[in-house]
Formats: sequence, structure tokens, C-alpha cells
Amino acid sequence: MLAEDTKYLQIAQTLATSIRGGVLARGERLPSLRDLAAQHGVSLSTAVQAYRALEDMRLVETRPRSGFFVAARPPRPPVPEATQPPPDSREVDIDALAAHTLRFAHEQGYISFGAASPSDELFSVERIRRTVMRAAQRHRAVLCEYALGSGHDELRRAVARYALRLGCQLKPRDIVATNSCLESITLCLRAVTRPGDIVALESPTYFGFLEILQSLHLRALEIPTHPRDGLSLDALELALDTQPVKALLLSPTLSNPMGGSLPTADRKRLARLVSERGIAMVEDVLHNDLAEQEERRRAVRSFDPTGHVMLCGSFSKTIAPGLRVGWVEAGRWTEPVRRMKMATSGSQTTFVELAMAELLGHTGNEAGFRQMRHTIGVRVDEARRLIAGSFPKGTRVTDPAGGYVLWVEMPRVVDSQALFTACLAERIAIAPGTLFSASDRYRHCIRLGVGGRWDDAQRHALMRIGELARALVAAAPALPAAA
Ligand SMILES: Cc1ncc(COP(=O)(O)O)c(C=O)c1O
Repeated sequence: MLAEDTKYLQIAQTLATSIRGGVLARGERLPSLRDLAAQHGVSLSTAVQAYRALEDMRLVETRPRSGFFVAARPPRPPVPEATQPPPDSREVDIDALAAHTLRFAHEQGYISFGAASPSDELFSVERIRRTVMRAAQRHRAVLCEYALGSGHDELRRAVARYALRLGCQLKPRDIVATNSCLESITLCLRAVTRPGDIVALESPTYFGFLEILQSLHLRALEIPTHPRDGLSLDALELALDTQPVKALLLSPTLSNPMGGSLPTADRKRLARLVSERGIAMVEDVLHNDLAEQEERRRAVRSFDPTGHVMLCGSFSKTIAPGLRVGWVEAGRWTEPVRRMKMATSGSQTTFVELAMAELLGHTGNEAGFRQMRHTIGVRVDEARRLIAGSFPKGTRVTDPAGGYVLWVEMPRVVDSQALFTACLAERIAIAPGTLFSASDRYRHCIRLGVGGRWDDAQRHALMRIGELARALVAAAPALPAAA
């Protein structure tokens, strides 16, 4: 018998399978709360939770005074296939391209799809301002003191409480405060690798990870990745059998750029695999709160009692990017990471840490995350529909179960660098696919971040990217007919 607190997920998943499989058609009325509860022998509140989870997945909509209905889904453009990167490791050389591309992602006067971050209207700017002011006021003594240690105790306690959402029980004293998720990841990799070592990662992967590898002179081994279910564990196992991989760097939930999330069974298998092989895994949990399905918010670390998984996070995507508060709990490498942080930059800005601790402690946070997931989900649906209607025939686009990043695979004749240049001429910023690989792959792909401002100018710009891509297809020399 399942506990009541997981029963709602089982009910939601059964209904989700029927909706996704077309057994329940869009617009179709669903059982009332009372009927759903009776059908499954659960309480009314469990039935409410099940429908809420389905609303979060945008599969069900509530109509006031009418009940629950299967939500209308936008037309579904096809989704890319799993990737097939080369089987050998590579040196990384992308940071010049990354710097060039990113300059425009945040530049005034550009319509930007180049960044993977939510715009300010998705955050509680006023609440953040008030909390920071209050922290500076209340703790003014710390403004003139050197902070010692690995972060203020209140922040570390708040992070430990937060980590329970990820299924992890962390000791506050093992948590090290940093200024970003990327700093946390850098510290972890510095603790477990030496120049020339091989690090396995998803393919495509976040260019920030590749830049870290480049700066530490590490080699990248790209592992085949599925757009919905993330890294292929079979391929990873094969790579571990044949190559001296030192560490694995991964976002198991809503990876950037494809948006895949490992299923729970794979999370367990991965935790077992890294501990059996004695490999360090750096787990980036930055996007976990944005996952539509609750079970995919659970960290791989929660299945690893051996301390091989090093957990890295920040609140840059969900609470306040400008406060620059990150954290790391490095498992069996906690002490080296702590020392490395001290040697690199000492400690952080205490009153900002205190402000973040307070923001994290707000009981309304879950409601805030939920609202953000919903707003972004509706926007992603609309963006996919616009892409389906305006990009060249044969274009595929991911359908991430959360987050605001879309990976668009166009016909091979489209060079994303040429498209990037054509878009820049019209003051539109995109991220070309080659940024996301160390092996010069994904030349015909782009990443579009749709978390920024969203208005008619953005919608038109998105369709304009499609038109420019179509023009590149039309200008390409015809391929010789197959013999
Ligand atoms: C997967 C991933 N990790 C880390 C970061 C950066 O996070 P932070 O600003 O906390 O360093 C990003 C930003 O886009 C990201 O996509």
C-alpha cells in the first residue's frame, strides 16, 4: 500500500499517461474531485493534489464552476532524437565564442533569446529589496567585519532545510556558501581533478560547464543524451569501461540546453554507478525547482549514502539572480572544497547571506515556484507553437517538462553561426549550437531562452528568426539527388 503522500503522484501519472497517449482527448471532462477520490479510495485532499500536479504539467485545466478538463495542447512540433557525440574525449576551446555570443544576450537594445534566465518580472523584486534593506539595517555590525568560516550559520541552516525538498538531509556545517552555482562547480572539479583529466558530461551541454573545463585544462567526454530523459546511462557505463573518467558533471533535472530530466530509476542507478566505480559526480541542482514533475526534483545525491555525489546549487534562477548566493555540499570532498574556497576568495557578504536565508525561509516560496513554473510553461507552449509555424520544414524542438530553454534542431543546411549573424543585424540575440559542445557539433542547432520579457516584440522576433532560417535554407545549394 502506497503512503497517501505518494499516492497522488501515482494517480496523476495514470491520468497523464492516458492524456498523453490520447486515451483522454483534449477538452474532455475529467471526474469531479469527489469521484476521483472515490475511484482511487483516497481522501479529497489527495485528489486535489493529483489534479494540481496535472495542472503543473499543463495537462489539465480547471474551469470555474465547471470542473476539470483535459487541457488543449498546442500543436506538437517533432522533438529531436537522442544525440550521438564522438566516443573519445576532447580538449575544450569555446570561451572566445561564448564571450562573443553572450555579449549580445544581455545587451540593451537587443531582443534576447541568448540567455537562459528569467526576466525580473518573474521575481518578487520588491520583496527582495525589502529583505536586503532589512538585513543591512538589522545586522549593520557585520558591514564592518571580516566574515570568517564557510558562510553564515543562518544561511547554511536555511540551505539544509531547502535541501529537504531535493530529498537530501544535509548537515549545515558541511555546507559551504559560494557566490554562484558555477563557483561551486569549479571548486568541486578543482578538488577532484588535475589538468588533463577526463570529465564526462551531457551532449549538448551548458557552455558554462565547458568554459570551466577549459579554464582547468580538463578534457570533455560527451555522452549521448536524450531530450526528455537526459544522459544515457548505458552510454555512460560503456564510457567508464573504456576510458579513465575522473568525474561526471551533470544537471540531472532540466539540463541546459535540452531540458531533459533523468527518471527516478536512472537517478538510483547513477548513484550506485558512481559509488561502485569510485567516481566523483558533480550534481547541479540549479533548475530542480522548475521541474513540472515533483519526483524529478529529487537529487541523485538523495540516493547516494557514500558521499560520491557533490551537490551544487544557487538561487539565481528562482529567487534572486542579483544576490549571487550559491552553495555546495561536497560529500567526501567537503574539507578540500572548504579549504579551496577559503584560499580562493575567503567568505561571502554576510548581510546578503542573511537576506537570502530570510528569503529562503518564506513559507510562500513553494507558491512562488509554482507560479513561476506555470507562467513559464504557458510561454514555452506558445514559443513552441510559433517555432512550429515559422521555422523551416523539418525543424525539431524540445518539449521540456519545466524551465524556459528550448533546443531547436533545424535542417542541416542551416548554419547557426550564419543565423546568429543574420539575427544580430536585426538586433536579435540567439545562442548558436556549437557553443554547447567541445566537438564542434550542433552547427544546425540553436538554443532559445524564452524566460526573458515576453510581449509582441518577442513573439515577432521569434518568428523572424524562423524566417531568417528559412532564407538560409532557400539560399543553400540543392543536395544532389540520391543515386
Ligand atoms: C545548468 C546551469 N548551471 C549553472 C548556471 C549558472 O548559475 P549561477 O548564476 O548560480 O552561477 C546556469 C546558468 O544558466 C546553468 O544553466
